Amino acid sequence: NNLDTLYRQVIMDHYKNPRNKGTLNEGLTLEMNNPTCGDRIQLHFIIEGEVVIDAKFEGEGCSISLASASMMTQVVKGKSVEEALKLSQYFSNMMLGKETDSDDLELGDIEALQGVQKFPARIKCATLAWKAMEKAIDQEDEM
Ligand code: FES
Ligand code: FES
Repeated sequence: NNLDTLYRQVIMDHYKNPRNKGTLNEGLTLEMNNPTCGDRIQLHFIIEGEVVIDAKFEGEGCSISLASASMMTQVVKGKSVEEALKLSQYFSNMMLGKETDSDDLELGDIEALQGVQKFPARIKCATLAWKAMEKAIDQEDEM
């Protein structure tokens, strides 16, 4: 249907024109791999005063994993750590096919990946960047 087509276009756009691709000279760097395929992404993250002030990613992976990293960095940049974690929760519920209240969350393009839920083997591709983001926040907490 039309929504599927639209979502596919949004995914392809993020894959072909990734937002926030690259590296940062400061902050945290986290690498996360998808054990199923061995693809990995590196996430660079700067958190200051409980706010994600910058986020970039690099890596190799399928279109879903890279599009998801692009969408994730775009949507969490400038958000508080708390909002970033809420977004991650929202995203993982979406991957489980659960409807969740998005409250006042700004979702950006992340809903374009909701169709992935129908392909269990690819859920790990879609959640890779989000897991890296949660790990970055965990590490920041320990510092
Ligand atoms: Fe097979 Fe991602 S692990 S498609
Ligand atoms: Fe490897 Fe999707 S196939 S991350």
